[in-house]
Amino acid sequence: MGLCARRTELLTELAREIEARGARAIVYAVDVVDTPEMAKAAADFVEKAAGVDLVIANAGIAIPTGILAGNSEPIGRLLRVNLVGVTNTLVPFVPTMVAQRSGVLAAVASAAGHRALPGRAAYGASKAGVIEFTSALRMELYGTGVHAMALCPGFVHTPMTAGLSKMPFVIDLDTAVTLMSRAIVRRRRTFTFPWQLRLMRPILRNAPEWLIRRIAPPPRPEER
Ligand SMILES: NC(=O)c1ccc[n+]([C@@H]2O[C@H](COP(=O)([O-])OP(=O)(O)OC[C@H]3O[C@@H](n4cnc5c(N)ncnc54)[C@H](OP(=O)(O)O)[C@@H]3O)[C@@H](O)[C@H]2O)c1
Repeated sequence: MGLCARRTELLTELAREIEARGARAIVYAVDVVDTPEMAKAAADFVEKAAGVDLVIANAGIAIPTGILAGNSEPIGRLLRVNLVGVTNTLVPFVPTMVAQRSGVLAAVASAAGHRALPGRAAYGASKAGVIEFTSALRMELYGTGVHAMALCPGFVHTPMTAGLSKMPFVIDLDTAVTLMSRAIVRRRRTFTFPWQLRLMRPILRNAPEWLIRRIAPPPRPEER
């Protein structure tokens, strides 16, 4: 198993846990925005593991973007991590998977990618981009044996959501992992969860903006 993120100590700790269970773990302390380093890590993993079955592009950030202050720099950072980070993670594995005629390329998007929300312009755009990217990639890979998919969680209890007070339909991390694992095994396309959000998805997509403004008001100005 290959593990990629920036904090080496956490990666090493996780690798130890994985190895204690009898699997092999290779650590790559790389920033997903670094295109050449991500390609190098992918090539190294494919060589050491003699192939690849599954890649999960999970890295993502949700930061205040300073949109009301007219500052586009944090927006650029968010889009690079959440969107370019996903393409940097998945694309280097495409040739190997196509040659093998097997493999799954999964990206963690968000239910926020299904509908524009006030105060979430950059985050929503990045996740909508991930959903569209994986959908197009899946069609492009049709007939090769390789599957591309997007996982679209609602709120999940993780460090990212630790400071949030209102989280409708929030689920715990273990439940999210179980649901995502099942979706990967079943080769779902764009998998939205929990079920309440999956049911609401067509309604939300078509709801008028006045209704969206009422049910999902923008966060406080300092959080935007
Ligand atoms: N939690 C939710 O409610 C929720 C809902 C919908 C979607 N999501 C999505 O789920 C994914 C995981 O989120 P989470 O809630 O688990 O967030 P988290 O607790 O903040 O974890 C984010 C992970 O991404 C890694 N990461 C962040 N920036 C990176 C970078 N530039 N390069 C490499 N790794 C990077 C972090 O490791 P390092 O800091 O060590 O690099 C960390 O492992 C994200 O894509 C997020 O948008 C979360």
